Amino acid sequence: MEIERPTIQGQEEDDEDDCVWLDEAFFVNQSYETRTFAYGSHVLRLLCLESASTDYDLTGQLVWPGAELLNYHLAQNSDFLTGCSVIELGSGVGVTGLLCSKFCRQVVMTDHNDIVLKVLKQNIGLQSPAETSSCAEMTSEKLEWGNYDQLLKILEKFPEGFDLVLGADICFQQGSIPLLFDTVEQLLQFGHKRCSKFMLAYVSRAKSIDTMVAAEAKKHGLKMREVQGSRSMVAGGSLEGVIFEFVLH
Ligand SMILES: C[S@@+](CC[C@H](N)C(=O)[O-])C[C@H]1O[C@@H](n2cnc3c(N)ncnc32)[C@H](O)[C@@H]1O
Repeated sequence: MEIERPTIQGQEEDDEDDCVWLDEAFFVNQSYETRTFAYGSHVLRLLCLESASTDYDLTGQLVWPGAELLNYHLAQNSDFLTGCSVIELGSGVGVTGLLCSKFCRQVVMTDHNDIVLKVLKQNIGLQSPAETSSCAEMTSEKLEWGNYDQLLKILEKFPEGFDLVLGADICFQQGSIPLLFDTVEQLLQFGHKRCSKFMLAYVSRAKSIDTMVAAEAKKHGLKMREVQGSRSMVAGGSLEGVIFEFVLH
């Protein structure tokens, strides 16, 4: 007997009689645990999973090594975040945006996955200002890279634009990288914030993706530079991570 997921678009409808239709919820683990993360003196408590779902699209349910790399860097260099307005792409459970909320004026955390957005929203709700010394206004928004309508809605809500665009460990699928850079370019071009930058914590998992990130940045008119001292081994020493900054030429 075959067991198949019912919601995959374009799924062949042949052999339907042999399929057992199971609700999507059957495959999705939402039994989150509260975990504590510390970056310097900054402590965050949030809901996440300990291990990845087998569904590629649910990568955002846990904290990735790129977020750890970026968060240590931000905690040690927090001065430049003071009073900033930040938008994060592919926030997952929100560990980077939540850290930023301790320094920034405004933090908008985004993701494209509804299940991930649900736990992100819960994590924002868990950060009571009294307990966390958070000073920022925090929100979550749905944003699929390359979706201009969703981006426009966000820009209408935040007409001043953003000083900083952040992304942690969000380059692991070749197909989405050109769309990611479309969105980054639009965010950097928007409004009066022409001095803003995109900060990406990049974890190298395939040479082809390393090359693609640099090529897409160039194609989108972005100058790329490595943040000095950020290159280090992550994920228990098994992968190399680095922080890049991108600005419009
Ligand atoms: C590897 S996880 C990283 C999550 C978090 N930044 C971290 O480092 O812990 C990648 C995140 O990007 C989101 N994502 C992947 N493709 C996306 C797309 N095309 N548009 C928007 N978000 C996307 C996923 O839902 C997921 O939350």
